[in-house]
Amino acid sequence: MFKSTALVALISVVPAFVNAAQPLYAQCGGIGWTGDTSCVSGSVCTKLNDYYFQCLAGTTTSTPATSSSTSKTTSTPTTSSSGSTPSTTPAAGNPYTGYQIYLTPYYADEVKAAAAKISDATQKAKALKVADIPTFTWFDVVAKAPTLGTYLADASAKGKASGQKYLVQIVVYDLPDRDCAALASNGEFSIAKDGLNKYYDYIDQLVAQIKKYPDVRVVAVIEPDSLANLVTNLNVAKCSGAQTAYKQGTIYALKQLNAVGVYMYLDAGHAGWLGWSANLTPAAQLFSQLYKDAGSPAYLRGLATNVANYNALSAGSPDPITQGNSNYDEIHYINALAPALAAGGFPAHFIVDQGRSGVQNIRQQWGDWCNVKGAGFGTRPTLNTGSSLIDAIVWVKPGGECDGTSDTSSPRYDAHCGLSDAAPNAPEAGTWFQSYFETLVKNANPAL
Ligand code: BGC
Repeated sequence: MFKSTALVALISVVPAFVNAAQPLYAQCGGIGWTGDTSCVSGSVCTKLNDYYFQCLAGTTTSTPATSSSTSKTTSTPTTSSSGSTPSTTPAAGNPYTGYQIYLTPYYADEVKAAAAKISDATQKAKALKVADIPTFTWFDVVAKAPTLGTYLADASAKGKASGQKYLVQIVVYDLPDRDCAALASNGEFSIAKDGLNKYYDYIDQLVAQIKKYPDVRVVAVIEPDSLANLVTNLNVAKCSGAQTAYKQGTIYALKQLNAVGVYMYLDAGHAGWLGWSANLTPAAQLFSQLYKDAGSPAYLRGLATNVANYNALSAGSPDPITQGNSNYDEIHYINALAPALAAGGFPAHFIVDQGRSGVQNIRQQWGDWCNVKGAGFGTRPTLNTGSSLIDAIVWVKPGGECDGTSDTSSPRYDAHCGLSDAAPNAPEAGTWFQSYFETLVKNANPAL
């Protein structure tokens, strides 16, 4: 903060800086930021967290939600306020079928800016192709909620202009005490500081945007890592302390998003996490129970696996780090989990993240998740999945955005990001990691 203030003072006496306002979606502040803190006209430098301020569309600074949520209690969340009620009956079958996936301008701009920094013409051309591959957009702070409206409006306009039906992919990711077993993605809300009510408000803000565009289909991944942490990490105090809030928050999200027709996939970790035989049954029980507790939401289509991870959907042979787990890749994990879910009354379908799974056998341990060295972009998003259980191969993690900082002095430093198989010089989670992106491009499989 201090550095940003000092820079603002400097800008006022150095005209050259004034002209170099940051473009939409670029970083404009945060601890350690030494670049320009002003934004182009029509956008405002918005604090997303202490480490990252970003130029977001608008003319006034957005204020984080506080007071509007006070009417709710943590035990009995209310339903959303007024607005149009969408169809209560989801379309049968795969929600992706017949839809054009919207390309989020946020990621496309990140990729184009990254490509501009690559001098090798061949690599630059390959990098630029990534801007045309759909990824999910992560709503990792409440301040980003209004941008969902911007994307939906754009998708709606594109749909009307082209006669095609559009689908926007989002990640709902702001539970209080987030990332309870790790440090890298610690979030903005804490349970001790009314975080659950603030989370309800965050969900309400997303819902308010979605309601305005009933012609655009929304597919959401719900809260990466959260329920998986409740299966295996209740020995971690922050996770056991978050158990009730995670469940209440998730049920609220499922109910509210169901009411506006969002097709949802709950995050289910990956083969190397919940795919172990000791974890499969407790995982299936937790997911099935939540499904029931949320009232068996018709739009809860199933589960998302391998989000932001590096596993193959189908490995030619098991990576030695899988140490004899019969579920050594995502297809084996899904085939094992689906019947257990069905037995629990949850007829789940799946989507699988393959965005960074192009290169296998690069980890020292299966649990290594942070900026794994040598990774490459993987199978492109497709509905040709080879399995009736899997609706789509998708890219959930926007490749090039960091998993976590390698700066040991950061409060969000997690030791996984300092391992020898983690890429060094990594910035904060979610911010752009140029050298990592360039490696993903170079190692892409299939090649770009
Ligand atoms: C970060 C988020 C980010 C997401 C996608 C997560 O690891 O914590 O801030 O939006 O990755 O890059």
